[in-house]
Amino acid sequence: MKNLLFSFFLIFIFCQVNAQNDLIANVYERQTISLNGNWKYIIDPYENGYYNYRYQPFDQQEAPGAGAFFNNSKSQSPSDLVEYDFDQMDDITVPGDWNSQKKELQYYEGTVWYKKSFDHTSSNNKNRLFVYFEAVNYKSEVYLNGKKLGTHVGGFTPFNFEITDIVKEKDNFLVVKVDNKRLKEGVPTLNTDWWNYGGITRDVRLVETSPTFIQDYFIQLNPENNQKIEGFVALNGAQKSDQKVTVTIPELNIAKEIITDATGRAEFGVSSKNIKYWSIENPFLYKVEITTGEATTTDQIGFRTIRTEGSKILLNNKPVYLRGISIHEESPLRGGRGYSKADAEKLLDWAQELGCNYVRLAHYPHNEQMVRLADQKGILVWEENPVYWTISWENEATYDNAQNQLSELISRDKNRASVIIWSMANETPNSTARNTFLEKLAQFTREKDSTRLISAALEQKNYQGSKTVRTIDDPFADVVDILSFNEYIGWYDGLPEKCETITWKIEQNKPVIISEFGAGAKQGLHGNKNERWTEEFQEDLYVKTLAMIDKVDKVQGISPWILVDFRSPRRVLPKIQEGWNRKGLIAEDGKKKKAFYILQQFYKDKEMSQ
Ligand code: GCU
Repeated sequence: MKNLLFSFFLIFIFCQVNAQNDLIANVYERQTISLNGNWKYIIDPYENGYYNYRYQPFDQQEAPGAGAFFNNSKSQSPSDLVEYDFDQMDDITVPGDWNSQKKELQYYEGTVWYKKSFDHTSSNNKNRLFVYFEAVNYKSEVYLNGKKLGTHVGGFTPFNFEITDIVKEKDNFLVVKVDNKRLKEGVPTLNTDWWNYGGITRDVRLVETSPTFIQDYFIQLNPENNQKIEGFVALNGAQKSDQKVTVTIPELNIAKEIITDATGRAEFGVSSKNIKYWSIENPFLYKVEITTGEATTTDQIGFRTIRTEGSKILLNNKPVYLRGISIHEESPLRGGRGYSKADAEKLLDWAQELGCNYVRLAHYPHNEQMVRLADQKGILVWEENPVYWTISWENEATYDNAQNQLSELISRDKNRASVIIWSMANETPNSTARNTFLEKLAQFTREKDSTRLISAALEQKNYQGSKTVRTIDDPFADVVDILSFNEYIGWYDGLPEKCETITWKIEQNKPVIISEFGAGAKQGLHGNKNERWTEEFQEDLYVKTLAMIDKVDKVQGISPWILVDFRSPRRVLPKIQEGWNRKGLIAEDGKKKKAFYILQQFYKDKEMSQ
């Protein structure tokens, strides 16, 4: 009974925590002020700035006093007792993880406090002001001028808080407690195969809006009617109901007037026979403008349809083979978490040099620059919720956390034509609790966005005990639109020649993506192809794996593991790994391995045969 009550308490807190985040869509086109740059930071492994000595949170005390770091206290007289001072601390750069910025924090998992001071003069004293974080890993408590704005859980999705009534003209102090501790009940959970980069890892900005503004919108092609553009607009503010909103798409001569309902939301649909569809070859983006009496926002939106038909994936009703690659979000330019347009350009340029028309952004939502650039470059995208390996399937609060992160991802990217697949999970062990968890996530996703496909890296096994026939063995296969699975025959399972003995039997009539295969190689290490860690071994595995999977008719795409070597605390083999997972086709210094050219040729041949 106690556990049940505790679960309800956690759910209540979680709902309170994340309910405030009515995400503002497309901050790039808003009136914003960047808070990027130097912040002050305090490392606080004992959370001494958050709990009093009786382990009670200061921000739940009537008078938290000078011990609470979020008060940014200063000694006012020689006798005052204040045991911290942000302004005497060193700087840390935002955006950016702390692990790659500060040597003493490379492996740190715990709390770091951030503080940014700023002045603010509103352009119109009737306007409203929000603070918008693109991502903070993993849990953040946010305060302005000593007042708690809220808490956010999840290291890879955006959130915002309104600060209209708290912000002052001078000497504001924004304080963020960031805690990247891995948690058994977390999403992801304790064990992952990537570096646990902590910090304010993406941009922070102030967003100024009119009193009633356009908070959210979804504008996409009807999945069943490619001459119908439909969606909704949602206003936020006192004058949000019964408001006239105009959605214009000038190049289609569309100017649709709609009236919001009592909740400030208006749905619409407009038809056009002249739509230029977004495609890989021609990633055409329309300028879309949404206006009310006092507010305007614009976006660049591509219109396309994506669906499956039997074992085919149809983009604009034409079969497409996904020539992909998996990518982790690490900056190829400076190491650490990627976040910038330059990081995204480098990664996607390498993917296109490889011959890709598709990328799998593993294993969590990447920064928004990646999907906006994919929209412009004509690259299809798989985005993934960090439900990875051994999640706490029975824990209600864990499910709510997973759903909230997925909801924030879909809210952020639902207008991006490049995004075609929402992935529910990666390599999760089959169980009743896990199937219930994933089925609920899938249902939630389809209700929130019916225009995209759902997948997940499923479980596979020997077919009816055979040693040479493999198949998908996963009840979630009946739920997803696209069957995907990771296979490591030749690396974790035998040696590369084993690929020559294996066939695949896919019983479901759905498209298949091989979401991972690969082998580790130290760039520059050469030898015989049976010597593990040489480039020749990795090259041979690619040759044999591509030959094996190319015989499977239902395979409509692959995203080999992985574009670039990436940091992982699990990988500690001296002289070879030393904290790096070496399955990249490119080393962290940008040098390509021999297997890169094997895959590049395979994609050239695949493109020619389409
Ligand atoms: C798994 C997993 C990856 C991991 C990879 C590996 O399939 O999905 O996150 O990095 O294998 O072992 O290198």
